[in-house]
Amino acid sequence: MIKRNVMLVVGGDFGDEGKGKIVSYIAKAYDYRHVARGGGGTNAGHTVVYNGKICPVRMIPSGFVNPNAQLYIGRGVAVDRDVLLGEIKRYEVDGRVWVDRLCPIIERRHIDEDRGPYNKTVLNTTGTGTGPAQLERVKRTANLRFAKDIDSLKPYLADVGERLYDAIERDEKVLGEGTQGTFISNYGFEFGDKSTYPEGVTTKDTTAGTLCADIGIGPTTVESVVVVFKSIASKVGNGPFPNEITDLERLKYIEENGQQEYGTVTGRKRRMGDFDYDRARIAMQRNGGTIVALTKLDALFPEVQGQRYYNNLTGDAMYHIRRLEDESGSAVVFIGTGPEVDDMVDRRMFNYTRK
Ligand code: GTP
Ligand code: MG
Repeated sequence: MIKRNVMLVVGGDFGDEGKGKIVSYIAKAYDYRHVARGGGGTNAGHTVVYNGKICPVRMIPSGFVNPNAQLYIGRGVAVDRDVLLGEIKRYEVDGRVWVDRLCPIIERRHIDEDRGPYNKTVLNTTGTGTGPAQLERVKRTANLRFAKDIDSLKPYLADVGERLYDAIERDEKVLGEGTQGTFISNYGFEFGDKSTYPEGVTTKDTTAGTLCADIGIGPTTVESVVVVFKSIASKVGNGPFPNEITDLERLKYIEENGQQEYGTVTGRKRRMGDFDYDRARIAMQRNGGTIVALTKLDALFPEVQGQRYYNNLTGDAMYHIRRLEDESGSAVVFIGTGPEVDDMVDRRMFNYTRK
C-alpha cells in the first residue's frame, strides 16, 4: 500500500506569491520533519521573516525555521555551491541539510551566459546561471558536473528520493516546497492572443506534477496540494501580465503605501497587478490543488494586519476570500496577515473544509 504523507506547496501565479512564508509556517506549526525543495535553482528566492529577521533563501528550504526538520534539495534543482554553503552557515543548519547526489552544478560559465545579451534583454532572467545549467543537463554535455563531483558538498550528499520514500514508509510527513509560479511554467500559457512563451517563462515546468519529480517522489504519495496566491499580484521579467497595474496614479499610491515589491534575488522592482480570479481557477486545475493559501491580505486590507482569527476579518477582506473560494472551488485555509511566519489565519487548526 502506498502511503499518502506528502503535502506540496506551489505558486499559483507568476512566482513570489509568498511560498516561503506559507512553507515556513506549515513546517513549524505542524512540525514537518522533512522539507524538500524542488524547482530550477537559485533563480527563485523565498523570503522568510522570523523573529523580526528577514531571511532570504535561494537554496535551502524555507522549512528551516523548524529546528526538527531535515532539509532536502531535490535532484531537479541546479545547485550553486557558494550560495548553498553561505546559507548553511548563515542559518546554522549544518547537520540537517541533504543535497541530492545528482543535482547539476551551476558554474561560472553558466552565470556568464545568463548575463549575456539574449538572456539579459530578451528574456530578462535573474542572471543566476540556473537556465544554462539546466540546459546543459538536458543536452547531456560531458563537462557538466553534479553535486557528487564537488568536494565541499560531500558531507551533504544523499539520494533525496530514497530518503523521502523511507520517511513516508515510516509514516512521517513530508513537505514539498515548489518555487516560482504556475504561469511562468516553461510549457507556456496563452492569455487571449498573447503567449507567455518564450519571454515570460522560466527554465522548467513549475507545477505540482514536476515538483514531485524534482524531489523524487511519486504522485500517489501526495495527500494535499496547497496553491499559494498573493492578494496583490506581481511579476518579474518580461511577458504578458493580465491585470497589470499601469495607471501611474495607482502605481504611485502602491509605492507610497508600501505595497511595491522588490525581487528577493535581483532587487528588481516587481511589476504589480490586481488579483485575477480567472488565473486562480486555472492554477487550481493545473496543480490539482486541494487547498488555497492567500498571502498579504494585510497589504490590501491594512486592518487585518497580524490577525490570527478568521472571525476577526472584516467585510471586504471576507468578500475577497469567499469569492476566491467560489472561483477556485477549494477552501482558503491559510491566510497571511503580515510578513512574520506566525502572522497567519489558519483554518486547518479548526478543521475547516469548504461545504
Ligand atoms: P519564489 O519562489 O521566488 O516564487 O518566491 P516566494 O513565493 O517565496 O515569494 P517571495 O518571498 O519572493 O515574495 C513574497 C513577499 O511577500 C516577501 O517579501 C514576503 O516577506 C512577503 N509576504 C508573504 N506573505 C506575506 C503576508 O501575509 N503579509 C505581508 N505583509 N507580506 C507577506
Ligand atoms: Mg521569490
